Amino acid sequence: MTAALFTPFTLKGVTLRNRIAVPPMCQYSAVDGFTNDWHQVHYAGMARGGPGLVTVEATAVSPEGRISPACLGLWDDAQSEGLARIAASIKAAGAVPGIQIGHAGRKANANRPWEGDDHIALDDPRAWETISPSAVAFGANLPRVPRAMSVGDIARVTADFAAAARRARDAGFEWLELHFAHGYLAQSFFSAYSNQRDDEYGGSAGKRGRFLLETLAAVRREWPENLPLTARFGVIEYDGRDEQTLAESIELVRGMRLGGLDLLNVSVNFVIPDAQVPWGTAAFLAPIAERVRREAGLPVASSWGIDDPQIANRVVADGQMDLVMIGRAFLDNPHYPYKMAQALGVERPAQVLPAPYAYWLERYRGPVKDSAQ
Ligand SMILES: Cc1cc2nc3c(=O)[nH]c(=O)nc-3n(C[C@H](O)[C@H](O)[C@H](O)COP(=O)(O)O)c2cc1C
Repeated sequence: MTAALFTPFTLKGVTLRNRIAVPPMCQYSAVDGFTNDWHQVHYAGMARGGPGLVTVEATAVSPEGRISPACLGLWDDAQSEGLARIAASIKAAGAVPGIQIGHAGRKANANRPWEGDDHIALDDPRAWETISPSAVAFGANLPRVPRAMSVGDIARVTADFAAAARRARDAGFEWLELHFAHGYLAQSFFSAYSNQRDDEYGGSAGKRGRFLLETLAAVRREWPENLPLTARFGVIEYDGRDEQTLAESIELVRGMRLGGLDLLNVSVNFVIPDAQVPWGTAAFLAPIAERVRREAGLPVASSWGIDDPQIANRVVADGQMDLVMIGRAFLDNPHYPYKMAQALGVERPAQVLPAPYAYWLERYRGPVKDSAQ
C-alpha cells in the first residue's frame, strides 16, 4: 500500500508528485532584491531531493516590504530573470515551482537573524521607513514605530502585490502563495493588536480583513485561473483569546475562498512578541489546520514540527491536511524525502530522487567500487 504522503495531489491544473512541500524559507542572501548563485543552487538542490512543491522564500512586492536588506524582491521586471531560472530548475527536477510574495510591514528593515534580528538603526544608510496599518510598534527586537498607511498607501501596496503576481506568472511559477501571516503587513491589518484604524480598513473583523480580500482580488485578476492561488495566514495567536481569533479567521478564510483562494497554508499570527506558542508539541497546528479545512471548506497545508515521517504521513492519511510543509529538515538534508520514503517502507525509496542518484543508491551495498559494475 502506498504511503499517503507519497500520493499525488492535484490542485487546479497542477499535480504535485507527492504531499511533501518545501515552505518558503528566507535565505537573507540577496543584494537589492536580486537572486544569485546561492538561491539557484539552494532551490534546485531541494527540488532534486524529491518534494512535490518547492516554494521560493518571502519575496517583497516593494523595496520597503523586505524583511531585511538581503531579502528577495519582485518589484522590478529586471528581478524576474533570476527567478525564472530558479523556477525552471525546480520544474526540471520534477517539482512544482512556487513562490511566496509579501510585504513585511512594521517588521521590515531588520538585520539578518544571525546579525541581530533587530531593526536596523535609523542612522544606518541601510535604514528605510516602515509602514503598517497603524503607528504601533511590534516591540521586543523590533521596536521601531511604523508610519500609519494612508488609503493611498494601501492602494499602492495592493497594486504592488498584483504586479509581483504578474511577474511571478511570467517567470514560470505555477503556485503562488500570498504572505498574509507571521505579523507582516497583511496579518497586521487583520489583528486588532496592530490595526487601530477607524476607517474602512479597521475596526470590525470585516473591516480588518478588507486589505487581505482586496489584495487577493487584485492578484486573482493577474494570476491564471488554472494555477493554484494560495495564501499563508495565521489563524491563531496563542494569546489566550484563541477561540475568538480562530472564529474570525475562519470567517475571513471563507471569504478568501469565495474570492478565489485555492488552498490555505495555515500558520500562526506572530503579531505580538510574547505569544505562548506550544513549540514543544510536534505538529501542534495539525488539529487547527483540520478545523480550517473543515469549516472553511478548502484544502490546507501547514508546517511547524511535522517532519517526523510517521506523523507527516498520518496527518495526510487522517485528512488533517492535504500537504505537509517541511522546512528545517530540508536545510539539514535536501534529500529528506528519500529518508521519509525509507522510514515509511515505500517500495524502491531511492526512486524519489533523480536517476543519477537513485541508480547508485539502489545498488549501494558498500564501497562505491562494489556497486559500480
Ligand atoms: C531559515 C528560515 C526562513 C524562513 N522564512 C520564511 C519565509 O520566508 N516565509 C514564511 O512564511 N515562513 C518562513 N519560515 C518558516 C518556515 O516556512 C516554516 O514554517 C518553519 O520553518 C516551520 O517548519 P519546520 O518545523 O518544518 O521547520 C522560515 C523558517 C526558517 C527556518
